[in-house]
Amino acid sequence: MAIHVHILGISGSLRRGSFNTALLRNAQAMLPPDASLEIADLSGIPLFNQDHEHAPPEAVRTFKAQIAGADALLFAVPEYNYSIPGVLKNAIDWASRPYNEQPFNGKPAAIIGAGGRFGTVRAQLHFRQIAGYLNLLMLPRPELMIPLAHQKFDADGALTDPEARDQLREVLNALVAWARRLRSTA
Ligand SMILES: Cc1cc2nc3c(=O)[nH]c(=O)nc-3n(C[C@H](O)[C@H](O)[C@H](O)COP(=O)(O)O)c2cc1C
Repeated sequence: MAIHVHILGISGSLRRGSFNTALLRNAQAMLPPDASLEIADLSGIPLFNQDHEHAPPEAVRTFKAQIAGADALLFAVPEYNYSIPGVLKNAIDWASRPYNEQPFNGKPAAIIGAGGRFGTVRAQLHFRQIAGYLNLLMLPRPELMIPLAHQKFDADGALTDPEARDQLREVLNALVAWARRLRSTA
């Protein structure tokens, strides 16, 4: 039997109708066998203040514990002003401190995104730069960038575009395989 892989999904959008959060919900129904996906809630995380990094607020402690307990992370990232949203960067900044006990270290991860004309390509590149410092072990490929997201989902948030659905499934399969492969070499 394959080793179970538990994925923590992290959306960079708090918007109720977020396409990126919807991507994660769609992913929950497309997982390969022996895998699960829980979606983190970043809405209660306050602005980072380093004065409190040794005694962070409850929402941050929960987020850090979810990261630590996951076998892999799946970031669904909107593009804001050619980068990742402040909401996500803020949550990452909290979770990355104190530096010697940050839970991203050595964690397998993948990034996907849905957005405007270029489908979050610039935000994803920026994210990979941040991931290097965190020592996240990013899945190099396949990539998933969904341009013109408003045309690819229905009103209930179901991903209706067949090509995007296939690509999402491929990312999920690859992330689960990536997590198993890295665990076997740990
Ligand atoms: C503050 C802000 C900045 C944005 N900047 C960009 C951008 O640089 N490039 C882009 O393609 N879309 C940009 N957008 C559009 C968002 O990517 C788009 O609204 C996307 O659907 C947001 O993700 P969500 O649906 O998960 O909330 C921006 C939106 C906002 C609110």
